[in-house]
Amino acid sequence: MNSNLKPSNLVTISVLLTLSRLQNWVNAKSEVPCYFIFGDSISDNGNNNYLNTLAKVNYPPYGNNFPEGPTGRFTNGRTVHDFIVESLGFKNYMPPFAQLRGKDVINGVNYASGSAGILDETGKINMGARIPMNQQILQNHRAVVSKITKEMRNDPAASKKHLAKCIYAVQIGSNDYINNFFMPKFYDTSRRLTMPTFTNVLIQQLSQQLRILYDFGARKFAVFGLPLIGCTPNAVSVHGTDGKPCVEKINKAAGLFNEKLQLLVHQLNANLTSAKMTYLNPPGLPVDLSIFANAESCCEIGGGGGELCIRDSSPCSSPEKYIFWDGVHLTETHYKVIAESAYSCTSPSCAAPFNIQKLAKL
Ligand SMILES: *[C@@H]1O[C@H](CO)[C@@H](O)[C@H](O)[C@H]1NC(C)=O
Repeated sequence: MNSNLKPSNLVTISVLLTLSRLQNWVNAKSEVPCYFIFGDSISDNGNNNYLNTLAKVNYPPYGNNFPEGPTGRFTNGRTVHDFIVESLGFKNYMPPFAQLRGKDVINGVNYASGSAGILDETGKINMGARIPMNQQILQNHRAVVSKITKEMRNDPAASKKHLAKCIYAVQIGSNDYINNFFMPKFYDTSRRLTMPTFTNVLIQQLSQQLRILYDFGARKFAVFGLPLIGCTPNAVSVHGTDGKPCVEKINKAAGLFNEKLQLLVHQLNANLTSAKMTYLNPPGLPVDLSIFANAESCCEIGGGGGELCIRDSSPCSSPEKYIFWDGVHLTETHYKVIAESAYSCTSPSCAAPFNIQKLAKL
């Protein structure tokens, strides 16, 4: 009989196996315990599937390069936050708030809703139902916070401690311009306010919303600036460009919003004790659109309000060579570029004062 297989050695082996499993589990742990997502169609992963809206993409070819197929993600594959959550070491993507039945909320939730804005009315007249930022925070996140407190045996101190370790990703504002201010046929904001005044209104609203999140226990904020919303195939075809590659007035508005947003993040960092807030600037388009061969959409557009892929249409054969998946949203390849910049970029021009990797460690 092999003396190595004495009962005492077997105990040792089993203890070692348990320890190594524990070690694996520790290594596999995410850099933060939880990640919450607030925003619009850039981040939505299924919340709009249940709403009466034109801003809904639970049909092919959306999700063409995603393992589960069409989920409600407004792209061919993963979103910016899917990539960030992967980098942070989570095993699963954050579940959409609309699909929480029986799911655990302790690791985070995705509240984002296509066509939603900072202002409640944004997206409503031309697209239909959506979950505006106020509702994402005041109703949906409030409900999740109480659920988490319950899961922590109704211990408010434990719940507070947990919530303070989470990252709160906020990416909102594009629709307040493209599905509100720059849509005068449906919204009167541009007749009532100048663009800089409207931008101030947005920043003031967002400031209050971030403060409410702080009051709900949020401490680590990743606040994203707007991408170049004046360069999308939809903006170009609706507004025209006067021979330029992009719609300048829309990019100018997005640029001003980003400038003021970065300032707001700086002020809130100073004013809210123990807040760790960072501003992430989406990288510019990878190449000059005027010389880029594939500046048009990968899929055949005409769905939704005219800017989304047509249901069951055949997309281009190499989406990774395209910037735009549909008339307004980027391909997975370019969402990955934005995510990688937010996670690890070390220049203040893209992450100020720090990137998400650093935010996680603070
Ligand atoms: C921060 O505090 C200063 C000084 O009290 C105040 O003037 C400013 O409005 C505050 N900013 C924000 C965004 O809360």
